[in-house]
Amino acid sequence: MASILTNRPELKKVLDSAAEVAGYLWQKGWAERNGGNLTLNITEYVDDEMRAMPAICEPKAIGVTLPYLKGCYFYCKGTGKRMRDLARDPMCGGSIVRILDDCATYEIIADEPIVPTSEISSHLALQNYMLESGANYKATLHTHPIELVAMSHNNEFLDSEHLTQVLWSMIPETLAFAPLGIGVVPYAMPSSTELVEPTLEKIKRYDVVLWEKHGVIAVGPDVMEAFDQIDVLNKAANIYMTAKNFGFTPDGMTPEAVQTIRTVFNLPDHR
Ligand code: 13P
Ligand code: ZN
Repeated sequence: MASILTNRPELKKVLDSAAEVAGYLWQKGWAERNGGNLTLNITEYVDDEMRAMPAICEPKAIGVTLPYLKGCYFYCKGTGKRMRDLARDPMCGGSIVRILDDCATYEIIADEPIVPTSEISSHLALQNYMLESGANYKATLHTHPIELVAMSHNNEFLDSEHLTQVLWSMIPETLAFAPLGIGVVPYAMPSSTELVEPTLEKIKRYDVVLWEKHGVIAVGPDVMEAFDQIDVLNKAANIYMTAKNFGFTPDGMTPEAVQTIRTVFNLPDHR
């Protein structure tokens, strides 16, 4: 069957990179069953033929109104779909949606009427913020990284500043590649619109947002960079856990050593 990706090499390249990341998530054990989801703003690849494509489902509510998304197009992982299947074929595990003029509903245009992820309100709210802020960011990625989620089960690490400092001090690259750190959002029901506002607030200050006892959501210019940010922070969490498994609490790099990384990498001071 012809796919929307047929004869659209640029769009195919972007979705292939989503498939590559989906494979990494599965390999890392962060994407059990249908765990995790992603959206990509693909508006720049939309041609006249795509714009003329009719909807293949009734309009569906996003759950929030997002004025910057009017007329935009997104690739979304489908709800209930597996990352490991998406890794083989992104259009088997997701669909292309168009945001309608009311900025509060969307319709699916291709390939199949696969209903987008249940976390669509948080993903699209972040996409709206990225357009509003002028950042050339196109990707949002939610996954269940084991060590970061485990840390969010301890009250000590629900403090964003403290968790960020602990993770930065585990290995120098964490600060270099996640210079804004990680912000924690208190537990809320997965997929609920209750997650939207607190997530938006945190992404303004931090690279990655940790949803307590659930997972993380990150943004990036592309899906690979969003993945890298999560990977870097979870690596630090893994080092913390490994030291704990050895039977000791890791010392962490000294504040002076952390500050030197900040200076050498020319990173702004943390707020
Ligand atoms: P979906 O299958 O709806 O994308 O949900 C997976 C998930 O991780 C919810 O938080
Ligand atoms: Zn989840």
